[in-house]
Amino acid sequence: MIELGVNIDHVATVRQARREMEPDPIWAAAMAEAGGADGITVHLREDRRHISDRDVALLRETVFTKLNLEMACVEEIVEIACKTVPDQATLVPERREEITTEGGLDVTGQKDSIRKIVRRLQDRNIVVSLFLDPDLKQIEAAIETGCNAIEIHTGCYASTRNEHDQNTELTRIRNAGKMIVDAGLRLHAGHGLAYNNVLPIAEIPNMRELNIGHSIICRAFLYGIPKAVEQMKRLIRSVSNN
Ligand code: PXP
Repeated sequence: MIELGVNIDHVATVRQARREMEPDPIWAAAMAEAGGADGITVHLREDRRHISDRDVALLRETVFTKLNLEMACVEEIVEIACKTVPDQATLVPERREEITTEGGLDVTGQKDSIRKIVRRLQDRNIVVSLFLDPDLKQIEAAIETGCNAIEIHTGCYASTRNEHDQNTELTRIRNAGKMIVDAGLRLHAGHGLAYNNVLPIAEIPNMRELNIGHSIICRAFLYGIPKAVEQMKRLIRSVSNN
């Protein structure tokens, strides 16, 4: 059965906008699990712009489904992963100036160093996934690193604006997916997936996991507004003197 990993980075982004205690991603993770999430995904970026070391340590204690740590291939974060032991680590490229992860990992250019990181994480019993564009050369190189899973970057698919382009991207993703499954690896996908574009991706044969953040947090945020306003209004009207 296909698993849904809910990415809660945006909850931490809102917290960091005020450097306050809320909204706490730990609480968001528990709420996502209550809604049926099969896993919680967070990206501990080198610049700590949203998720913090404290969040990762606490999530390790509190997530009872599966904790998936997105991480760059850098020593500091690899050490944290080896110490924290998430259930899964997803290796992603990272650039300080980017708004979100742009493009997949370049494995062909750094196969040996990625292979070493994959082994170090697997030695700690962490399932390792590589985040890749649907590019067969990259996937071939990734398979040689000994990783357990490959997450296909669906960002290009998600940003298409007409049926022809969407079908072209879908074909690339399906072909990449077949190569991954034929190699005996778990097939994951994510980035830009939303309520209006997720089904064709979920229908890809042997899809095992989808990681979705932005669209779920946006919907939660908007759907929650009426209730939040109602609660505040009831509270301020509960004092009888005005
Ligand atoms: N998968 C990976 C590897 C990502 O880097 C991200 C974004 O943090 C996601 C999935 C989720 O993307 P989105 O927020 O667009 O759903």
